Amino acid sequence: MTKAKWTEGWGLFWLLTLALAAMTLGLLFAAGWGTDGYRLVIRATARTSLILFLAAFAASAAARLWPGTVTHWLRRNRRQLGLGFAMSHFIHALAIIALWQTDPGTFWTLTNRGAIVTGGTAYLFIALLAATSFDRAVKAIGPKAWGWLHWLGVWFIAVSFIFTNGKRIPVSGWYALPVALVLAAIILRIAANRPRISIAA
Ligand code: HEM
Repeated sequence: MTKAKWTEGWGLFWLLTLALAAMTLGLLFAAGWGTDGYRLVIRATARTSLILFLAAFAASAAARLWPGTVTHWLRRNRRQLGLGFAMSHFIHALAIIALWQTDPGTFWTLTNRGAIVTGGTAYLFIALLAATSFDRAVKAIGPKAWGWLHWLGVWFIAVSFIFTNGKRIPVSGWYALPVALVLAAIILRIAANRPRISIAA
């Protein structure tokens, strides 16, 4: 029998899930199961989500441009990294609901109906991408529809990260860093998809 590895495939997915659960519980026990704790969890999961999303989003492009151990690991595990992103954003949603239920006053100072509609659309894509991240789902909807859905979904999420971080730049210049990371990943994907021009005779 082959031994399950925590750094590959489903072992990696469960390791990511455990780490996210430990981080969430750690923050809630440290800051309290109330406004401060829920806000910390919302912000922390927004950041873990971005890291996991970028790893999955840039994996194939990075492996194509710089073939090597790390980039091949990223490409091999991009499905699990993508599902790890979905898990992280699921916790983001749970903490948002907890904040809305326990402290609606603070909740409405931090968000508005327009942001809920665009954020809700991103969540719809995240749910659809996660539900179709299995071989059986690819077969069921067909590779063409699957390709379109995943193309549209990942781009919508990438743009959502640019806007959700970008609108906070006036509060702190540090929010320019995640915006720059998403833009860099987009450039990487475009560069990797460019047809190669061979100068060899
Ligand atoms: C209905 C959907 C959503 C709602 C109601 C929502 C709500 C919130 C709230 C209230 C905060 C502020 C927390 C605080 O400052 O204490 C926040 C932060 C954030 N959210 Fe969401 N969110 C939603 C969906 C999304 C989506 C889809 C993304 C990205 C794809 C996202 C990315 C972020 C980011 C980047 C932050 C800033 C984190 C930081 O401070 O570093 N959110 N969200």
